[in-house]
Amino acid sequence: MTEDLIGKEILGQFRILERIGRGGMGEVYKAAQPAMDRLVAIKILHQKLASRPDILSRFRREARAMSRLTHPNTIRVFLYGQLEDTGQLYIAMEYLEGDDLARLTRRDGPMAPHRAARIMVQVLSALEEAHGVGVVHRDLKPENIFLTTQGGIADTPKVLDFGLAKIKEDKLRPGSMVLTREGMVFGTPEFMSPEQARGETLDARSDIYSLGIIFFELLTAKLPFPQSKPMEYIAHHIKTPPMTMSQVRPELGIPNELELIIGRAIEKKREDRYASAAEFAQALEAFLANAGASTSASTTNATPPAASGHASAPSVPAAAPNPTNVPAARPAASPGKGLVIGLLVLIAALLGVVIWLLLSAAPPAAPAPHAAPEAPAAAPSPSPTPPVAVPQP
Ligand SMILES: Nc1ncnc2c1ncn2[C@@H]1O[C@H](COP(=O)(O)OP(=O)(O)OP(=O)(O)O)[C@@H](O)[C@H]1O
Ligand SMILES: [Mg+2]
Repeated sequence: MTEDLIGKEILGQFRILERIGRGGMGEVYKAAQPAMDRLVAIKILHQKLASRPDILSRFRREARAMSRLTHPNTIRVFLYGQLEDTGQLYIAMEYLEGDDLARLTRRDGPMAPHRAARIMVQVLSALEEAHGVGVVHRDLKPENIFLTTQGGIADTPKVLDFGLAKIKEDKLRPGSMVLTREGMVFGTPEFMSPEQARGETLDARSDIYSLGIIFFELLTAKLPFPQSKPMEYIAHHIKTPPMTMSQVRPELGIPNELELIIGRAIEKKREDRYASAAEFAQALEAFLANAGASTSASTTNATPPAASGHASAPSVPAAAPNPTNVPAARPAASPGKGLVIGLLVLIAALLGVVIWLLLSAAPPAAPAPHAAPEAPAAAPSPSPTPPVAVPQP
């Protein structure tokens, strides 16, 4: 219905060239802005969104917040408002050449771990700025992360649609919502955090979860849950223990450090995740710093009992990826290597004492460093859980 926009001039400064995409809220057009000698992308929201006063004020608030974000990995918003004739809401932003992560994964399959980690660090940096000013994205998904080349630098991600999810929430679009005890649930089921799936209040850690799932998908071209219908993912996020990357794609030999990092980002309880985008980024930076890393560097990572899933670290005893062990690796909330090592030593020492007490005759057992102190070998065996249709317990 908006096809007739093509070739037209709007807002006295943009000439619409072509439609480049269509999403849940509207359509995105490529346009020329001759006065600035540049191309822009204009997202024009569905007309029905323009008639609701609550949506209009929400849109203004969110667009204003969005246009204040200046991070180089956040899309630049040039202008926003309502079209003169139809009253439709629009956002004019920088035009990006490249692909969004969804298209990229469909085309190229799993991305190399270090490349993906470098991209994620940049996305996290954009999130950090937004979270710092109280903007939670709420709808992070591969379609909303665009990979472009900027100033000659390839693999520059740009995060799109900050804040727009709130407008979607107002829109009450059937099919994008689920009834819960507390209210409605919105977002994209595949990338939705458990708290979002439950319709709870969201904070930065919800974005961290969604980004963890995106990262998982970028590395494996799969999701960490059994294949399901979109809405069934909502239940998976709430209660299905995620599979590890070595389970879904054992042949890829994804470094165990990334397994641990993603495992932490997608913990079900938000207190167990990274507390901030910065903390998540630091973990990835440490991984990248170890890159190219010698054998000895990776030994450090063997500290958590985890190490078993690692396909390449020579220091790891178990050679083959062992699905049952890997999830055990997921640290509940390990703030840093130092602390993890400290805790392990302490647990091992305590175990030693207990064993010594039990076998009181025996000499004090030396605390075996790899005594798999973590009882949570409880690691939920990621045997595919049958999809549960109803998210609410
Ligand atoms: N600034 C931009 N430059 C170039 N292409 C863009 C730009 N913004 C969006 N696109 C393209 O348009 C497509 C549609 O974007 P849109 O945000 O409308 O849909 P979506 O992200 O799939 O869904 P949603 O409505 O939930 O955000 C994107 O997938 C992307 O490929
Ligand atoms: Mg989008």
